[in-house]
Parts: sequence; structure tokens; C-alpha cells
Amino acid sequence: MSDLVFDAVSVRYGGRRGLTAVDRVGLTVPSGQVVGLVGESGSGKSTLARAAVGLSPISAGRVLLGGVDVRKLPRRPPLQMVFQDPYSSLDPRMSIGESITEAIPRGVLPGRAARRDEVARLLELVNLDPERSGHLPGRLSGGQRQRVALARALAGRPEVLIADEITSALDVSVQGAVLNLVRSLQRRMGLSMLFISHNLAVIRYLSDIVAVMYLGRIVEVGPAEQVLTDPQHPYTRDLLAAAPSATTSLLDIGEASETADAEPADPHDPPGGCRYHTRCPVGPLVRAGRELCLQADPADTVPIKGVAHRRHSAACHFSENESHQLTIPRGASAP
Ligand SMILES: Nc1ncnc2c1ncn2[C@@H]1O[C@H](COP(=O)(O)OP(=O)(O)OP(=O)(O)O)[C@@H](O)[C@H]1O
Ligand code: SF4
Ligand SMILES: [Mg+2]
Repeated sequence: MSDLVFDAVSVRYGGRRGLTAVDRVGLTVPSGQVVGLVGESGSGKSTLARAAVGLSPISAGRVLLGGVDVRKLPRRPPLQMVFQDPYSSLDPRMSIGESITEAIPRGVLPGRAARRDEVARLLELVNLDPERSGHLPGRLSGGQRQRVALARALAGRPEVLIADEITSALDVSVQGAVLNLVRSLQRRMGLSMLFISHNLAVIRYLSDIVAVMYLGRIVEVGPAEQVLTDPQHPYTRDLLAAAPSATTSLLDIGEASETADAEPADPHDPPGGCRYHTRCPVGPLVRAGRELCLQADPADTVPIKGVAHRRHSAACHFSENESHQLTIPRGASAP
């Protein structure tokens, strides 16, 4: 098992008039740990995740797994992604057994019987009755389809699982069960996970590390408990303030709403200096003497190479405690 490292990754869509959806992001998913990625709609979470599996175009930087550029890994790389919509992720004409068989890497299990046994094992792993392998996905509920999508992802025996809002499209009544399953699979199999969700209670439940994204950049990262109970970036504080309380049950959590009242910035033309300055409740539009926020982007202090985020860091010139500002932790080795 190895770390997944986003090393100064940028993703640009379109030509000159396009936008940089992910801008020089450094982030590490340490082996066997869960990194929860949060941020409002359009901040670039999916684009970053998709860059790791080759679904969005990396225009600068690299994504490394165990030090190897993922673009140089074999065709079925040890990274798998599960998406939000369990209805479109399965071919309606294929039985669930066929769908899972298709995801077993070629040559790994020669022989029909071995593949059938593997499908049964995978279905049991996601708490589905192997007897259902002949069923078409149309006969399954959303939660059951998402379990099949997980079984398909696990068929490749991945080291890293990337989950993008995998419970957001499900009935709240089944979200908790799917999350419990994901957590238990992650622990049992020692998977590394990048887990994206709008829902901060879900992030809190699953994550070892939390990273917060705003307008294409990581603005805060660190151990989950520290980021969620002692946020240092004004944007993270706004996100948490807008979310239901930490004690809210998983079953009645809503989506975290937009943070500050001001309009979100235009991603085609992001503000200079700190990108959050147009909305920041403690920024230059509100406080005198904070011109620095207009001049320098504190996210530029994000290490160029990904580092393990054992230390809590925030990309704000005026974060309460200077020791929280983003720096390369001592002893962290760049890949
Ligand atoms: N294929 C694409 N072509 C052009 N622009 C895109 C494409 N995909 C995403 N974008 C733009 O890139 C930015 C980041 O989008 P992305 O989907 O990564 O955000 P997100 O954080 O995942 O949002 P959400 O929470 O709504 O899923 C947005 O401004 C979006 O409009
Ligand atoms: S750098 Fe300035 S504008 Fe940006 S978050 Fe900090 S105080 Fe706000
Ligand atoms: Mg998304």
C-alpha cells in the first residue's frame, strides 16, 4: 500500500476563455487513511478526484501512487472511483453478476467457476445475497445499486478508493447503512480513500484527515478532529457554521449551505490575492490593514509537493495561530 499524492496538480477546462478548475493543488492521501474533501459546489472537488483516475485532464503537476505517476500505471490502475449516481453507473442490460465479472482484471482469475466464486465473494462483501447475481440492476434499489458499484470497484483489488458524493443521491434511510459498509470495508481492507461529500457530518464520521477546497485551491487541511473542531480558515468556519450541529443524526443531516452572503466568485476570473477575500468576514473589505489579502494568495504557501497532513494548516495570512499556516512539516519527504 502506498500514499496517493497530488503534486501541484492543475486542471484546466477549455481554451483561453476556459477556467482552471483545480489550481496547483498539493494533497496527500496517506496509505490506509481516509481524506475527506469538502467545499461548496464548483470548488473543484470532483475535478481533482477525476484527475487521479484519468477522467479530467491534468494540465500541470502529477498524481503519484507509491511515487509512480498514475498516467504510467497499467491500464487497470490500483485506483477505483465510485460516483454519485447509482442509476447511471450500471449497464441496465447486464446482470449484476456480469457487471462485476467485467470489472475483474483480465487474467487474474482464469476459469468461469473461479470468476463466479469471486462475484459471490464480492457480493457478500457488500452485504448482498450472491443469489441475486443474475438480477438486472432495474430490480435493485438505489442503495443496492451503490453496493454493486462498490463491489465492481473492489473487483479490481484497488489500493485506493475514490468516492464522490456516493450517498447524496440515496434515500436518507439507506445512507447510514451504505456509510457503515464503506467504513467497515475501508478498515478491513486497509484501503486509502479520498471521500468527497457536501455533508460535514458524513465527513466527520469517515475521515482521518479533512481537506477544504475553495475555488480550485486547498485552503485548510489537517487531522479531521482538529479541522472540524478548531477551524483556522474563515471559509472553513463559515462552512461549519452553516452546517447542522455535530450532534445531528446521520439520518437527518441536510446539505451544508453556502457560506457567506456575498456572491461566490467567478471561477473564470478568480479574485487576485486570497481568493476568498471578496467574501471573507475578516478580510480586507471588512478590516483595515489587511491589504496583504489583496496582494498575495496564501494558498501559494501550500507545499509544491504533497506532504502527509499530520499537521493542521490553513491558507490564511491572518489565521489565528501562526503555527497553523501552511508550511512543509519538518521531516516530511517529498516524493
Ligand atoms: N467538463 C467540464 N468542462 C468545463 N468546465 C467544467 C467541467 N467539469 C467541471 N467544470 C467546471 O469546473 C469547476 C469545478 O467543478 P467540479 O465539478 O469539479 O466542482 P465540485 O466541487 O465537484 O462541485 P459539486 O459539489 O457541485 O459536485 C466548476 O466551475 C465547473 O463548472
Ligand atoms: S487571507 Fe485575508 S481574505 Fe483570505 S481568508 Fe485570510 S483574512 Fe480572509
Ligand atoms: Mg462534484
